[in-house]
Amino acid sequence: KADLRSTLLEINKIAAQYFYVQLKSEQGKAACTYLKKRKLSDDMVKAFGIGYSNKYSNDLFRYLRNKGYSEELIRQAGLINTDEKNGVYDKFWNRVMFPIMDVNSRVIGFGGRVMGDGKPKYLNSPETAVFDKSRNLYGLNRARTSRKSCFLLCEGYMDVIALHQAGFTNAVASLGTALTAGHALLIKRYVQEVYLTYDSDEAGTKAALRAVLILKEAGIAAKVIRMEPYKDPDEFIKNLGAKEFEKRIENARNGFLFSLEILSKDYDMDSPEGKTAFFREASRRLTAFEDELERNNYIEAVARQYKVSEESLKKLVVKTAIGDG
Ligand code: UTP
Ligand code: MN
Ligand code: MN
Ligand code: MN
Ligand code: MN
Repeated sequence: KADLRSTLLEINKIAAQYFYVQLKSEQGKAACTYLKKRKLSDDMVKAFGIGYSNKYSNDLFRYLRNKGYSEELIRQAGLINTDEKNGVYDKFWNRVMFPIMDVNSRVIGFGGRVMGDGKPKYLNSPETAVFDKSRNLYGLNRARTSRKSCFLLCEGYMDVIALHQAGFTNAVASLGTALTAGHALLIKRYVQEVYLTYDSDEAGTKAALRAVLILKEAGIAAKVIRMEPYKDPDEFIKNLGAKEFEKRIENARNGFLFSLEILSKDYDMDSPEGKTAFFREASRRLTAFEDELERNNYIEAVARQYKVSEESLKKLVVKTAIGDG
């Protein structure tokens, strides 16, 4: 078992090197142009080991076979597919390749981006004996040495790289999956605070709400940074630069208060009934703070923000807590 794992890591490493060389070759020109267009520096290409999987359908497979690895092992590394019509062929074809590394910078899988509007936008390695999506974070191998006391948690490969390029070397991303408790525990080994910088669309907002809860469950303080009017950190930084992003970090919203703001959009806050219903739900959520000092501080913040007397909100929270709300 340990043997299989180390062999798969070996295969992945060779594949990453192969993709990297392809990017620098004549065939990789379009991919280089694509990366330039996306304003990615050569330093970042090197640091993140970005590569290119060419248009030949099975050359990586043949390359690995020539190195002595069996078809079965290459399959277990997630690098090939087989079907009756085409036989064995490379999984990644004509894509910009992002090696996914574990915390010790060992290549455990890949994400491959199409260079246009094709689908899927990103093709990812399947889970393998060395690739567990819910226990690894993209960029963690670099973020762990950033000496910052918090991480910036974003959605995508390009976000992580754009942030690192702009000097935010504490950026990480979950790998095209929702944040899990496993991710939270992994994060907690390094930092006690996370700034969520998810996409500004509805999916990103929902994912941020979930992430706040998962992080809190693990005892990690979450703050939320919004990217409006841009889509994600990559686009934000390209348009407004690192200084403006820094300001967004400074103005990050507390995760709980952010979730109440999103909640308030479901209520008619201009009507007494709407506001009352909102405060009932807010009180229910406030009861989740077991520490009295912490709870009172949140009650104070909510009362101030939504213009209700602190006294009556506190009473409502107490009543809610004893099931009399
Ligand atoms: P997004 O759709 O927000 O893409 O997906 P992006 O990261 O902004 O990509 P660019 O800027 O268009 O290149 C966020 C993340 O979700 C995963 C990837 O990890 C991606 O970075 N994803 C997305 C997939 O795995 N597959 C997909 O088809 C799309
Ligand atoms: Mn190929
Ligand atoms: Mn998105
Ligand atoms: Mn993007
Ligand atoms: Mn995005």
